[in-house]
Amino acid sequence: MIDFDPYSIEFANNPYSVYKALRDEAPVYFHEGLNFWALSRYADVVAAHQDNETFSSAGGVMIEPMPDIGLLIMKDNPEHRWHKNLVTKVFTRDRMNGMEAFVRDRCAKTLTEAAEKDEFDFVKDFAVQLPLNVISELIGIPEEVRGDIHHFANLLLSRGDVDLMQVYQAKLTADEVYLDLIRNRRARPREDVITLLINAELEDDEGVVRRLTDDELAARFMELATAGHETVAKAIPNGAMALQAFPSEREKLLTDPTRIPNAVEEIMRFDPPSQLQGRTTTREVMLRGVTIPKDVKVMLLTGAATRDERRFEAPDVFDVSRENDVVSIYFGYGIHRCLGIHLARLEIRVAFEELLLRFPAFEIFTERGTRKVLSNVRGMDTLPCRPGLPRAA
Ligand code: HEM
Repeated sequence: MIDFDPYSIEFANNPYSVYKALRDEAPVYFHEGLNFWALSRYADVVAAHQDNETFSSAGGVMIEPMPDIGLLIMKDNPEHRWHKNLVTKVFTRDRMNGMEAFVRDRCAKTLTEAAEKDEFDFVKDFAVQLPLNVISELIGIPEEVRGDIHHFANLLLSRGDVDLMQVYQAKLTADEVYLDLIRNRRARPREDVITLLINAELEDDEGVVRRLTDDELAARFMELATAGHETVAKAIPNGAMALQAFPSEREKLLTDPTRIPNAVEEIMRFDPPSQLQGRTTTREVMLRGVTIPKDVKVMLLTGAATRDERRFEAPDVFDVSRENDVVSIYFGYGIHRCLGIHLARLEIRVAFEELLLRFPAFEIFTERGTRKVLSNVRGMDTLPCRPGLPRAA
């Protein structure tokens, strides 16, 4: 009997031995208490992502059902396609890469300020600040409400001792902020992503063309603001902990920083910030001799798939020279593949380039760090770090 309790702090601290048991002993697993199914082998997770007709995203991507609040991640085709086409035109690789100088500048300032103390919080003082400020600049969230937006995103992802009234209140506050920004931008258009979305036209399968409503724009704001920083804020500490645990890999990056882009992919494979993607079956599915009924929740366990020894050699070893996995399932796969993939890669790469350049001997104290139980993401809540001596000029 596998003890898989996705909402226990023990699992949050170390999910990987449970994932291995699932892959080996119950690749099509049913959790009776929480009433969900789970797929853990790489091949099964990829196949389910590809079959978005059978594995629907409507109803939410977490274990428990979610109300439809207009998020892209919860839409099925054809509606998903219309909305995704529109935002994909805005979040292009070129537009994101054009932000490199800004990201680097912001990263350097954040790191320098944080490292003024002998010991700082790698998560709160650095890893959250960088993506929160970058996405806020990109979509135009004013400095004074960024703290509230982060607080809301955090509450939304928390599980365990969460006060639902607090979540509801935080959502109302966030909605007000977004609707206000939209009204403001309609009155005073700017050269930015939200003005582009306000003016963009959505075309459905009948060829009907229209602009987005305020509520639809607010949903875009919410998903960009939340997904746009919480995951990167988890990926950067995950990477720092891996470099601390595998010193020879840190050494390779210090000797040859051109390996950093590949290391970013290995960081995401080794400890994916987004650990599971929920779906709901639209028909009965027969897999590995087990029948998954229609209309049930199925979790695609990304965190288990990226450690599958059937796909990766020595998967529990962090190896910055590992050949990239072309599917890069840690960014999702198929129609829901991450919209922010270019931005996320840019931010994580620049974070490690600047960190290793400025503080090559940084020290992370994982044993004094803390985690919270979260819904479908995994990462540190606090993580003490000593920057060590800066590199001699
Ligand atoms: C390390 C950073 C990131 C990781 C690991 C990550 C991971 C993912 C994954 C796994 C999905 C697919 C979810 C599913 O299939 O249900 C996804 C979708 C999405 N991501 Fe990211 N993401 C990251 C950064 C970002 C950033 C920076 C943004 C914003 C600019 C963003 C915006 C989105 C959006 C809007 C979707 C929904 C796409 C759709 O439903 O078609 N993500 N992400």
